[in-house]
Parts: sequence; C-alpha cells; structure tokens
Amino acid sequence: MIGIVVGEATRASVSVMTESALPTGIFLEIIDVENKLGVVEKTVIESRSMDAVSSFDDASSARKIPGMNPRDTKFISIVKILGEIDELKRGVANVPEIPIRPGTGVKFADTEVLKTIFSPTQEEYAQIATLKGSVDVPVKINLDRMISRHSAILSMTGQGKSTLVAAKLIEIAKKAGTAVVYDIHGEMSSLKIKNLQTLIPVINPMYLNGDELCEILEIRTDASLQRDCLRNAFHRTAKGNGKGKEFWSRLKSNLMGEPDQITKVSNKIDNAVRYSSAIINPNVGNPLYRLKEGVINILDMSGLTEKQAKIVVSFYANRLFQDRKKAMKSKELAILKEAHLQVLEEAHVFCDGTKSKTERIFSKIVREGRKMGLGFLLVSQRVRNLSPDILSQISSWSVGKLINQSDLDVIENASEFVSPEIKEQIKYLNVGEFLLAGEFVSISAIVRTTYIEKAIGNDQSIVSQWRKHYEESLQKIKDDS
Ligand SMILES: Nc1ncnc2c1ncn2[C@@H]1O[C@H](COP(=O)(O)OP(=O)(O)OP(=O)(O)O)[C@@H](O)[C@H]1O
Ligand SMILES: [Mg+2]
Repeated sequence: MIGIVVGEATRASVSVMTESALPTGIFLEIIDVENKLGVVEKTVIESRSMDAVSSFDDASSARKIPGMNPRDTKFISIVKILGEIDELKRGVANVPEIPIRPGTGVKFADTEVLKTIFSPTQEEYAQIATLKGSVDVPVKINLDRMISRHSAILSMTGQGKSTLVAAKLIEIAKKAGTAVVYDIHGEMSSLKIKNLQTLIPVINPMYLNGDELCEILEIRTDASLQRDCLRNAFHRTAKGNGKGKEFWSRLKSNLMGEPDQITKVSNKIDNAVRYSSAIINPNVGNPLYRLKEGVINILDMSGLTEKQAKIVVSFYANRLFQDRKKAMKSKELAILKEAHLQVLEEAHVFCDGTKSKTERIFSKIVREGRKMGLGFLLVSQRVRNLSPDILSQISSWSVGKLINQSDLDVIENASEFVSPEIKEQIKYLNVGEFLLAGEFVSISAIVRTTYIEKAIGNDQSIVSQWRKHYEESLQKIKDDS
C-alpha cells in the first residue's frame, strides 16, 4: 500500500495521502470490494512548519524541519476514478455508483492489469504509444473507431504531431489499409512503409466544374460577367474533341461576349498556364485513378503555394467524397472500393471557420463520412482558428502540449474529457507526449508516442550543419591550393 483515501470523496475523484510525491499520469489501484483503477491528475506537497512561517528569518530557521520530521510534510494526490478494473479489462469504463470510502488503501496499478486494459488483442487495435506513467505498457488505439468517427491531433508546433501521424500511418499500412495524406510539408514520403506511394497532385481542369475553374483561374465571385463568360466557354470546350490537347487555346477561342470581358478572362487563362501549370494540366487523367487501395497515398504538396494547396485539397476531398458515395451504392461504380482515411496537416489553413470551399467539403465529410467509411484525421497547431463546426464532429483526440488559453477552451467546448486538472496537465506535456481521449481508447491516458524518424521535420542541428559547411570549404581551399 502506498497511500490512503482521505477527505471528501466523490464518484469521479478522491484525494489520496501518500508516503512520497506521485507524478501525474501514474495509474493506481484502489483496494475496494471491486478494485478500481485511478490516475493521478494533480499532486501537492504541503509542509505544516513552512506554511506557518511569516518572515524570511522564520523560514530560514524552519527550513530543515520538513527533512527531519516525517510528520511535517504531507503529499496529496487528486486521483480520477476510471472504473472497476474487471470492467475495464473488458473495455467498459463506468464510473462507480458510490464514492470510495475514505480510509481505503491504494497501491500502484499492476503492469499486467494495465497491459490488458491498454493493449487489447483484437485485430482492429494498433499500438502507437506507451503509457507515460508506466512505459512498459503499450497503448493501442481502435482504428475502426478512429476512422469511422473522425479524429484530431492538436498541439503547439514542434511537439510531435507529424511523428504521431507517421506512427498511425505505419499501423494502418500494417493492416493493409488505405490512406490519402495531404502532405503539406513533404515530410511523409520517406517513411519506411512498404506499401506507400508518393504522388505530385495534378488536376486536369477538364474534371473541374465551371465554378471550380473560375476559382482556379482566380476570377472573383462578384465578377459575374467574367464567370459567365468562362463557364459558357468551358461548357462548350469540355464537349469538344481532341481531349486535353490544346485545351487552353480551345477554351480561349470559345470565349464569347463583351470584348472587355473576353480580354480579362483570356488574361486569367494565360496567367494560369504561365504560373500554375505544375498543378493544372489538361493532359492528365482522373487523378483518383492514381490512388491505390491498401496503400498509404502521399500527396506531396510541398511545392505548392497556399492557394494552390487549397485548390488541390478541395478537389481531391470532393472527388473522394463523391467516390465513396458511389461505393455505398455499389462498389463497382467507385474507384476506391473500400473505406479510407484522409489526413490533413495544417488543418487550420483549410478549415478556419470562414466557410471556404475546403472547409465546406470537410464539414460534409465529418457529418456524412462516418456512414460511408470515410475517415478524417485533422492535424493543427492553431486550435482556436479551427472551424467549431468541424471540431464538434471529432470524437477521438490526441492532444499534445498547448499553453494558449483559447486553444484549451476550444478543446474543452468541443470534447467531454477536459477537466481543469487535465487542462493543467496539457500545459506541461513534453515533446512526444500526448493525451489520448475519446472513442478510439476505452479510457483516456497520457502517453509517449512511438518515435518515428522522418526525412525532415526532426529537429536539425544547425550548428553541426555550419560546422560541416565550414570544414568542407576548408577542405576545398586545401584541395585547390
Ligand atoms: N515520440 C517522440 N519521441 C521523441 N522525439 C519526438 C517524438 N515525437 C516527436 N519528436 C521530436 O520532436 C520534433 C518535432 O516533431 P514533429 O515534426 O513530429 O512535430 P510537429 O508537432 O509535427 O511540428 P510542426 O508543428 O513543426 O509540424 C522532432 O525533432 C522529433 O524528432
Ligand atoms: Mg508537423
């Protein structure tokens, strides 16, 4: 026994007086009729003599007392009750009906018990971390629930979001699953996954609709005459012969209306050909055919501007949504026949509450996707900028260190698991530590995620790069002389 329940106990939590200070996140077993599992959410240390001091001189004379007199100092931990251990082993987390009686003994939770609870053996579970409070306990998430109900990875920058994405993708790949990753920073291509392919996303303008083409060509929504002019020309061109060949010149020759409008639209087309040909190419086929099932499909968007990335993301997300709709009617009609996960890094850029095109499609995906086997994993470091509409549909959370109060408030409003103690813990998480909560785990826990090496994104040693550069320059001078 390492502690005893003291003070007022509620169904949700108890205070435990312990022999020494306990770290937060550690799991305890409460020795009751039915043993309960609890987790330390907060620990305070108080000294009777040091509490009583009223001046520096007092403090100076009293400072040795806590070390000499064991009765002087008390260690109190606030322990959240997670449920009965026997039930938790079966994946059921019910808070007990009656609070735990003060005086009840407490011990460290047994590692084997924790393993049974946090590492279920069914095939839908995948390991992505170990318990922070007990590092030899693997933590698995339920991929079925993560993909069918949508999830989020949120933390300040540099805390390990992309590393966690990588850990999840590796596990999905092990299960022969399909994912489409909007790889904004181009850091996922180097993952050591056998069934991974990297694609440079290219859009054929002929697969767009008239409005999308207007947007790609950056014709403003209020320029209705120009939009009409382009839409009509596009309508005629799309039906023309010769497929992608000479598409742009045919489009231009089909422009009709006021000469002034024709010139403006024609200039916009020229600009697109000049500046956006890397992503808009009338000679490529339907890009969904390049995606493969049972493969982690990385769309490398590192060469695109933010505007281009938005067009690409909304284009793919829209097409994938339509494709899943077809798959629901009949698999034969769809390009991707089975369920898949879409991963969006920097989600605050695409789903920022402004009802942009990308936000509208992801709103649709989170509302309707769960019935269609279309999962969405959003990743962001600016939680307060994310669309509340989309966040309200997220049911599995991986939350790393966040210190901004508005970010924490947003998570509190969108989820059920945030208490004042949890908020405090989130502020002090280290790199690679995340709170996992929601439907993909049976009980929330603070974990250390599996470390995955990526090509970029891992912190670079700038000083060692300078040194290498300097040494190489010296060598070159020696060689030349
Ligand atoms: N589980 C982990 N264990 C040890 N180090 C980790 C872990 N996860 C991440 N790191 C380290 O933290 C750094 C940042 O990781 P990562 O790129 O995944 O963070 P991020 O949150 O995606 O950052 P950004 O906001 O810049 O995209 C890297 O150097 C990485 O090696
Ligand atoms: Mg990242």
